[in-house]
Amino acid sequence: MPLAEEHQRDWKRRLVVDALQRISGIADPRVDPLRRPSTPLAYRNRVEFSAGPGPDGAAAIGLWGRIDGERGLVDLPDCALQDATANALLASIREFVAARDDVGRALAEQGPFRILLRSSSAGRRLVGLWGTTTRFPFADELASRLTDQADSVVSLRARPGRRGGVRAEPLHGDPFITERVGGFEFRLPAASFMQVNPAGGRELIDLVLDYAGDPRGRRILDLYGGVGAFGLHLARAGARHVVVCDADRDAVEAGKRAARLAGLRNTRYAHGTVRSYLRSQQGKPADLVIANPPRSGFGRGVAPGILGLTPARVLIVSCDPPTLARDVQPFLEAGYALDHVTPVDLFPQTHHVETVALLTAHP
Ligand SMILES: C[S@@+](CC[C@H](N)C(=O)[O-])C[C@H]1O[C@@H](n2cnc3c(N)ncnc32)[C@H](O)[C@@H]1O
Repeated sequence: MPLAEEHQRDWKRRLVVDALQRISGIADPRVDPLRRPSTPLAYRNRVEFSAGPGPDGAAAIGLWGRIDGERGLVDLPDCALQDATANALLASIREFVAARDDVGRALAEQGPFRILLRSSSAGRRLVGLWGTTTRFPFADELASRLTDQADSVVSLRARPGRRGGVRAEPLHGDPFITERVGGFEFRLPAASFMQVNPAGGRELIDLVLDYAGDPRGRRILDLYGGVGAFGLHLARAGARHVVVCDADRDAVEAGKRAARLAGLRNTRYAHGTVRSYLRSQQGKPADLVIANPPRSGFGRGVAPGILGLTPARVLIVSCDPPTLARDVQPFLEAGYALDHVTPVDLFPQTHHVETVALLTAHP
């Protein structure tokens, strides 16, 4: 039973307030009302379905959930969080599987596999047929069925070895997805991360630009920056120097390309972990540090590394209130003030909430 819209808003804001009270020890944290930039449904441009044995052993295509109290693959005819065109693609894939015993058997016996449906804001559609140890069964035949509906179909396989990653084999069309954000063009391999709610992503950029203050003449770090959407906007707005640091090589390459196309000469990308980048930067002050870590929050040494650069402002963009509350603590202890905390509903109908927090050094 889904929570009613107005309850979702209050409840998500309260998750942030509770975490700041309980974990950061702030008695009465000032947290803005939740922002909801997108529609409450059909807001995702990327959904990953699983295809494999369902609870009765026959092939199912859907999402993982609980069936009679047990975790299992729930067969889904469509998904309310993606748009009608993506649901039509899903229906065609389901029809192909339903019409062929050999395909259903292969999915049930060798699965689970994954089916990635992605779209760009320009309306291009990409399907990724994803296998871990083996190739998605009958991928070539399925791809040829989808050519009218999808601009690209790609076979994806986990790359073995320590460096990991995903190997993409184009079956139809361009194996990359191109997304435009604020006039920047990001060309990414099929499986690479990008914000999945474009309106929500835009809201985060606007909040970052608002809380960053005047970037002119400033040295800015965009840590866990992905393609560097925050950093590039600040570079274009006149920052003296921007460095985007991320461990994902594909994101870094896509960001470098976007910066080059935009003619920005004040932006550099550092590929690697935030921890080792910060170690190399001690003694080189920054004016503003933006950090958008994964759910697990800052790794060891990251908060002291940022503090060592004596930034006047620190902006944390977080997808997990408890780790946000933990990560702001060293800054509060060092005398920073928590000036803004703004929750954003990037994922309506789920328990997730994104938060942008501004910490300011007060002399
Ligand atoms: C929540 S995403 C944010 C990406 C970006 N700011 C955006 O809005 O698209 C987190 C990013 O952190 C990167 N990452 C995870 N662990 C990392 C680490 N230890 N060092 C550097 N980057 C890391 C991931 O590759 C991913 O791009």
